[in-house]
Amino acid sequence: MADTLSLSQANDKTSRYEELMPQLAALIADERDVVANLANVCAALKTTFDFFWVGFYRVDQQQLVLGPFQGPIACTRIGFGKGVCGAAWSEKRTQLVEDVDQFPGHIACSSASRSEIVVPIIKQGQVMAVLDVDSDQLADFDAIDAHWLEQLALLLSAQWHTD
Ligand code: SME
Repeated sequence: MADTLSLSQANDKTSRYEELMPQLAALIADERDVVANLANVCAALKTTFDFFWVGFYRVDQQQLVLGPFQGPIACTRIGFGKGVCGAAWSEKRTQLVEDVDQFPGHIACSSASRSEIVVPIIKQGQVMAVLDVDSDQLADFDAIDAHWLEQLALLLSAQWHTD
């Protein structure tokens, strides 16, 4: 496994996701430990996009529990259906929120967060975790992010071992 990411100076995010995705696949291919893989993926996303906050919440005993992340400290537990992360879990689909203040029940871990995208990681019909990315800018995420982060969720699902 390479110990650094190889990224060109491409400015458009489609190119960045295209460059990053095969490297993420290689990064997690030989490692079975879920936390190790989530930690490295998180660091790679932060390095590539300089997201304000990027991280994972894992489903554990009917709650989402904070996992590997990069950014300011965050809420540790989120209930089923609560906030944007809980909605991604209960609805089993991506939540794209242009203005968090307009999202009923949004959980403000950081007052600086203005928009976010949350993608569930689903294995055999069950949500295992959610990937949460927050921005301090309004409407910072779009269908391009949704597409690529959903591809990433599929990749993580395929490499999600619980034994
Ligand atoms: N804003 C999220 C909570 C998690 S933090 O932003 C890191 C939500 O409403 O689900």
